[in-house]
Amino acid sequence: MQHVAAVAIAATLVAVAAGCSPASVKPAAKVRDGELAVPADYRSWPKFLVDVQRPDAKQIRDIYINPIGSGIGPGETFPNGTVSVMDLYKARENPDGSLMKTPDGKLVKGDLLKVFVMGKGAGWGDTVAKPELKNGDWVYGAYKADARTPSGDDIAACRGCHLPVANKDFVHRYDEYFQTRVATGAAKFKGGGEP
Ligand code: HEC
Repeated sequence: MQHVAAVAIAATLVAVAAGCSPASVKPAAKVRDGELAVPADYRSWPKFLVDVQRPDAKQIRDIYINPIGSGIGPGETFPNGTVSVMDLYKARENPDGSLMKTPDGKLVKGDLLKVFVMGKGAGWGDTVAKPELKNGDWVYGAYKADARTPSGDDIAACRGCHLPVANKDFVHRYDEYFQTRVATGAAKFKGGGEP
């Protein structure tokens, strides 16, 4: 056993030394599922889509994207460094259990239930335990309303449901985002801010 451990340590040292060439002083760490923190200021980021109506899930969702991600145009892939955060709100219910609606038929926001995040970086996809669930270089995290305490959601389920939209860079409402962005006159959100 001790011999095995020594070999493992030696291998690690070689790997560390190899990464320490003058050109790459410190190789960037690869972030794994569940390790991606939610940045404190995400609600000041460009809005991706807000008030997403999900009566099926009895929820309303607000999605934000950081300026690195919002800089792309239709048909482009999100660059490394992109982070998207989604707030999942409970839709309020009437006393009879039906969903409360505003006069124009929209759901009414209740408590914030959870905060989901996805972000991508060079080689992050290599950390995925099941290669068939690789979503490019995206990794996922799921938190309670405080945006820090893990919610316990199964990350494999996130991957499984985002996988089918690989042709939209694993982002479900990719097309809707660009259509809405054009409709609101915000041709480019680059650098943050709203129209
Ligand atoms: C059953 C399918 C499904 C599962 C499971 C799922 N998602 Fe999604 N996700 C969606 C859909 C659809 C959207 C678009 C918004 C909407 O309709 O709610 C979305 C949107 C998102 C977004 C906003 C960016 C984007 O892609 O549009 C993030 C971030 C996200 N999901 C993270 C997660 C995380 C983290 C998990 C696992 C804890 C997860 N998702 C599980 C279907 C799913």
